[in-house]
Amino acid sequence: MLKIDAFTIEYRKNPLGIDDKKPRFSWVMLSDKSATVQASRRIIVMGPDTVMWDTGDVPCSQSVLVTYEGSALEPKTKYTVSLIVKDNHGETAEADCFFETGLMGRFNPNALWITHGMDSGGSSCPIFIKDFTLNKKVHMGRVYISALGIYEAKINGNKLGDAYFAPGWTSYHHRLQYQIYDITGFLNDTNNLCITTANGWYAGVLMSNYRYGERTAVWAQIELIYENGQTETIVTDNSWQYGTGPARYAEFYHGEVIDHTFDVEVYGAAKPIEPPTGELTAQECEPVRVTKRIKPVSKTLTPKGELVFDFGQNIAGLVEAELDEPRGTKVVVKYAEVLDKDGNFYTKNLRTAKAEDTFICAGGGEVFLPSFTSHGFRYIKVEGIDNDYPADRFTACVLHTDMEPIGEFTCSHPGVNRLQQNIVWGQRGNFIDIPTDCPQRDERLGWTGDAQMFAATAAFNYNTALFFTKWLRDLKADQTIKHGVPTVVPSVLEDKEGVAAWGDAAVIIPMALYRAYGDIRVLEDQYESMKDWVEYISSKAGDSFLWQTGAQYADWLALDKEELSDRVGATDIYLIASAYYAYSTGLTAEAAGLLGYTDDAVKYRKLRDDIIEAFQKEYITSTGRLVSETQTGCVLALHFNLAKQEHRVKITEMLVKNIERHNNHLSTGFVGTPYLCHALSDNGCHELAGKLLLQRDFPSWLYTVDKGATTMWERWNSIKPDGSFEDASMNSFNHYAYGSIGDWIYRMIGGINILEAGYKKSLISPRCIKGISGAKTSLKTPFGELSCEWGYKEGVFNANIRVPVNTEAVIDLPNRGIKESVGSGVYNYTYQTEMDI
Ligand code: BGC
Repeated sequence: MLKIDAFTIEYRKNPLGIDDKKPRFSWVMLSDKSATVQASRRIIVMGPDTVMWDTGDVPCSQSVLVTYEGSALEPKTKYTVSLIVKDNHGETAEADCFFETGLMGRFNPNALWITHGMDSGGSSCPIFIKDFTLNKKVHMGRVYISALGIYEAKINGNKLGDAYFAPGWTSYHHRLQYQIYDITGFLNDTNNLCITTANGWYAGVLMSNYRYGERTAVWAQIELIYENGQTETIVTDNSWQYGTGPARYAEFYHGEVIDHTFDVEVYGAAKPIEPPTGELTAQECEPVRVTKRIKPVSKTLTPKGELVFDFGQNIAGLVEAELDEPRGTKVVVKYAEVLDKDGNFYTKNLRTAKAEDTFICAGGGEVFLPSFTSHGFRYIKVEGIDNDYPADRFTACVLHTDMEPIGEFTCSHPGVNRLQQNIVWGQRGNFIDIPTDCPQRDERLGWTGDAQMFAATAAFNYNTALFFTKWLRDLKADQTIKHGVPTVVPSVLEDKEGVAAWGDAAVIIPMALYRAYGDIRVLEDQYESMKDWVEYISSKAGDSFLWQTGAQYADWLALDKEELSDRVGATDIYLIASAYYAYSTGLTAEAAGLLGYTDDAVKYRKLRDDIIEAFQKEYITSTGRLVSETQTGCVLALHFNLAKQEHRVKITEMLVKNIERHNNHLSTGFVGTPYLCHALSDNGCHELAGKLLLQRDFPSWLYTVDKGATTMWERWNSIKPDGSFEDASMNSFNHYAYGSIGDWIYRMIGGINILEAGYKKSLISPRCIKGISGAKTSLKTPFGELSCEWGYKEGVFNANIRVPVNTEAVIDLPNRGIKESVGSGVYNYTYQTEMDI
């Protein structure tokens, strides 16, 4: 039987607030027959009273991201979509879904931006209030809200939605999101809409002292349709009032003060201001939400006498406290990622971030949960309560962009399983509306390099399509001809020249999304940005075809340089810059080809060849020696295909020797690490790649696991072998760059590889390593679940493979000697073979 398992619009189920003029539909099919493909499909989109689009029965296999081509969609309108598909076995399946459009740029001109009349520059949390009465029954109510700062809205005391930190962080000068809420069920005869704001990223404390503006402001449009068909709009204007409420102070780095003895105080009429320059757009990716709640695993009094609760997992988020204390009691919760060697609460690595929340009780059972801050922590220290306070009164609330979890990997090696968990937690801790470097210290910025290095791994663990699509729009908005791509996006650091491997996020991430999700629109939308980045480098390189200017972060935090003060590693910084120049130019040529820009494709292919020729002249001797004989130098030359065929062997030997000289350990930093194991596996040294993965002593991935890491660390030596910490000025225990090994784990040990974008065609080819005797990997691809479970025991290899409907796979199992092409279905294999694993 054919079934439709999921039917989505722009990656979402029944979304509210689609601003795209041409949204795309995707569906996942299930069938109990093998080799099932879609033979035809019909899509019917119905407006309130007309057929907007009826495709008729179209013979076509496309089932992912099918673009709407019907009549022009209207704003604020609900559309239902019906789908009928037929497969090659003559079976049929149907499904329905709906979507509601956002304002689509048609804002009510009477809706003004309003601010408060308090002194600006503080960290108070102004509220904006509108009371309104209704004397007719409401059929449908919506409110559209945006803010400068971050906000939480309540109607008649009910929080609207479950998002945190709306309207999100975008390049505010250019783009600002608004959110849409269904308020139908909350409306009474008399109503109160209260929007609490906080500085957030807009007016709050940021490492760079950068501020987009001084004071918070809001914009809202309430749209009501009464049962009698009449409509009414209520907008932000000078009839709104402002004041303050129980949230007394909030900053991301420093925490929040909530005073339950303080009620709402209204100070006067809100003041209209000039609208911000940023264009308003409906929320573009999943919101930040609480995705998990964790109770403490233990409570201790540290040697210093601090009352500390351990949640067992380093996370980003908040703590909810249930307190039953007399009126006026002040309870302070402080946050830390680690305890020091002696077991005391350690916060030095937070730098200037105070990371503390203060709860002032009103007397009587109360629940405190901040709304306008977040922290990176595993431990909390609580002051103001008795030492015998029950631990279960505190709950850690995990916060991150609520992307769909799509990938799972487990294997026979408990250390690698923990590593995989740590990689996932690294992602959860840092995908907080934008891809941040870390969630705990006074930084938390969208470092482009970190994001690009981790993008391929991230795309396995969660569906990152919307998350990165939004962020790439900000990257494009903040990119300039003069400075290229900023090192952090949204751009809040001083303008500097673009940096290799960081700016390349502009090219590498759109390509990673296209590959993982088959999303060609992201390439279309980002193509100018990709090209501009390559052109920016060309303007530096000129006729030399080498990028040899400017400051670089290079192989950031690599271990192979004695004098570590500049942290850039031992690899020639301009070898790295030129290597990335070649790589990004090649990817841009590929994107041009895919988009049908033939002239550009030819131009950038030629440019790539020129860069490679120059690279070889400058960095590879005539006998095939690389000038920077570092691991990262070799890895880039191999992985980016920069050496002549006859020199690859020598460079591989150089890489192997270097690793051996380090007693089979890595010494790579941010740039070399993501590709290190790939470079080995692709060049006949898969066994050594396996050794690196399973290495347990310093420096290695499992060293961190053995040191008790529950997420990825910023540095290989964040905790040194003697248990002391690396320099607190840069030592985060939640940084995802070294989690980029996840891509290799999924593809090599897990065996899941892309042959055609979006896994329309996949390669299932697990490559065993000594120390792992079985693995189970599954991935919800755009077409459905692709999985590979394999095991090896006593000379027998077993595999169980699932290939989704409407896709094909090439199955290439170890020592089997045949590559088999299959259609969808479940395939089992058992055969005898001798393997040393
Ligand atoms: C961040 C990094 C970032 C780097 C750039 C650091 O402060 O935490 O992850 O890429 O700066 O050098």
